[in-house]
Formats: sequence, C-alpha cells, structure tokens
Amino acid sequence: MKIFLIGFMGCGKSTKAKQLAARLDCPVIDLDAVIVAQEGRTIADYFAEHGEVGFRKLEQQTLKNYAYPETCVIATGGGLPCFFDNMQWMNANGTTVYLQMEPVALVSRLHNRQKRPLIAHMDDVQLLEFIQQKLVERNPFYTQAQVIIDAFDLDAERLEAAITSR
Ligand code: S3P
Repeated sequence: MKIFLIGFMGCGKSTKAKQLAARLDCPVIDLDAVIVAQEGRTIADYFAEHGEVGFRKLEQQTLKNYAYPETCVIATGGGLPCFFDNMQWMNANGTTVYLQMEPVALVSRLHNRQKRPLIAHMDDVQLLEFIQQKLVERNPFYTQAQVIIDAFDLDAERLEAAITSR
C-alpha cells in the first residue's frame, strides 16, 4: 500500500509521514526532499529560477516517475494535489489521506516561512488571509482524498487506524 499524505503547508505531513512509516515499518518518502536532493537546490531557489510553473511541472514528474517501494508513506507538497491530474493519479495509485486543519492553527504552526517561497514574505495577518483564500481553491482537490482526518492533535496511532479501517 502506498499512502499519500496531503494537505496545506504546516499541517504536519512530513512529521506524520515519518511517524506512520515507523508504525508500519516501511520507508517514508518526502517528495519536496526528493526534489531538493535531485536538483541540488532548495525549493525556494528552484522557484526563484523557474517560477511556480516550472516547479509544478517538476513536482508532477517527480510524483509520477519516482520508483516507490510496494509499501511506503509519501509526504507531498501542499500544492501538489491541486495541479494537473495529480490527485486523480494518487487516488489511482495509492491511498490518499487529507490532513485537515483550520487556518488559524496553520498560521500558528508556520513559523519557518523562509523555505516556503509562496509565504516567505508574509506576516501573520497576510498569511491567514492567504490560507483562507487558498483553501477555497484547494479544498475541492484535497477533499477528493479517500481518508479525511482532523490533523489537530492527531497521533500516529489514530491516523493508522483511520487508514486501515477504511
Ligand atoms: C507548497 C508547499 C510546499 C512546497 C512549495 C509549495 C504549496 O510544501 O511544495 O513551497 O504550494 O503549498 P509543504 O506543504 O511541505 O510545505
């Protein structure tokens, strides 16, 4: 089983992916980290050079071409499900899990904004507004996930149970 964790920046995809993979005793793959390793530069640098359009193309190629082990947990970038047919592809090739979180909670968790080019320059007020707007755009994609779970105070045991009991 390939488990794709999706959701907005700051909802805890990378941390939960690691914890879930440890519980399932399988590898964890962080697609943003794969891109950074592959390209030899940060996501912020890639954005600066190729723009968001270039990043989205690379992100899609990485999603579809990665040699996934049979069983693994994959943390995706926050925008990935919302471009091209990525959401459909993940639903066809694995189990998708939306880690849902309220905008105010996301703001309080997004301390380290420098590495996230879309929000690097924002203060808390701007960020809250940005998240609210983006969620209107992104929720139609995120909510196509096969499992939707409230990610606030979520522990890995409950996450595992939600996935295995579906
Ligand atoms: C993005 C989220 C980031 C990264 C890029 C764009 C987005 O990943 O892919 O900065 O569009 O929401 P995280 O969700 O892991 O921060």
